Amino acid sequence: MEHPVDESEVIALEGVSVVRDGRFLLREVDWEVHSHERWVVLGPNGAGKTTMLQVASTYMGPTRGRVRLLGQRYGKVDVRELRERLGYAGSGLAGLIRPDLPALDIVVTGRHASFVPTRFHRYTAQDWKLARLHLDRLAADHLADRRFGTLSSGEKQRVLIARSMMTQPEVLLLDEAMTGLDLGARERLVASLGELAVDPDSPAVVLVTHHVEEIPPGFTHIALIAAGRIVADGPIDDVLTASALGATFGRPLQLERRERRFHAWS
Ligand SMILES: Nc1ncnc2c1ncn2[C@@H]1O[C@H](COP(=O)(O)OP(=O)(O)O)[C@@H](O)[C@H]1O
Ligand SMILES: [Mg+2]
Repeated sequence: MEHPVDESEVIALEGVSVVRDGRFLLREVDWEVHSHERWVVLGPNGAGKTTMLQVASTYMGPTRGRVRLLGQRYGKVDVRELRERLGYAGSGLAGLIRPDLPALDIVVTGRHASFVPTRFHRYTAQDWKLARLHLDRLAADHLADRRFGTLSSGEKQRVLIARSMMTQPEVLLLDEAMTGLDLGARERLVASLGELAVDPDSPAVVLVTHHVEEIPPGFTHIALIAAGRIVADGPIDDVLTASALGATFGRPLQLERRERRFHAWS
């Protein structure tokens, strides 16, 4: 029987397993993201977080199970059209960017989901205006004319997130956007994402991280993932406990919540 249509459904994974070289990278994963939700995917290195995002965004096919993105069944539709409706950014992308291009040019290339301006793509005055707007939204308007290669890691992440917003995505996937940032840069990005989270015009967001300290205020849901399985998922207030976190990372952990932020230690 077909699933009833849920207008707010953005991502749905049903019984998804991914097997590579005889190993389960994901095992029997069920996960649903809705348009008004802001998700954190948290788990140790190698847990399967990036794999889960790649399956959800149609860049990797599941070995078993079913995937829907933006209400479309994966395998039944033209994925290129679907991919233009999502935004993706993360530390893994920075290496693909030409370092000599100004930040604003990097942002505008997101319009056609490419990394360099080419003669095949024309950018309108409206595109350039939008690029400035997105930089501004991430408190990075002052970086517009700086060459990408000269930016700090935190500044690069802001530019990449602004770039991913150019297609006005219906879902924004951020894979380890905060890895390698110093405390000040991390806190600036947490604040920007916190503002994005409470903006009703923002797309659904999925933020992958290893650290509870990186969870921006305003994020609503969390999936804890370890060894390819979802340990627990749902509203952060219900799911994120010391014992669930301990089970995810395989050691006893303490967890404290203060001023809508989290801290964990052992
Ligand atoms: N194409 C692949 N073939 C085999 N193993 C892979 C492949 N891609 C990832 N892996 C392995 O799958 C596990 C999960 O990877 P990944 O999803 O990148 O984890 P995470 O993002 O949580 O750190 C890791 O052990 C990784 O080495
Ligand atoms: Mg990863």
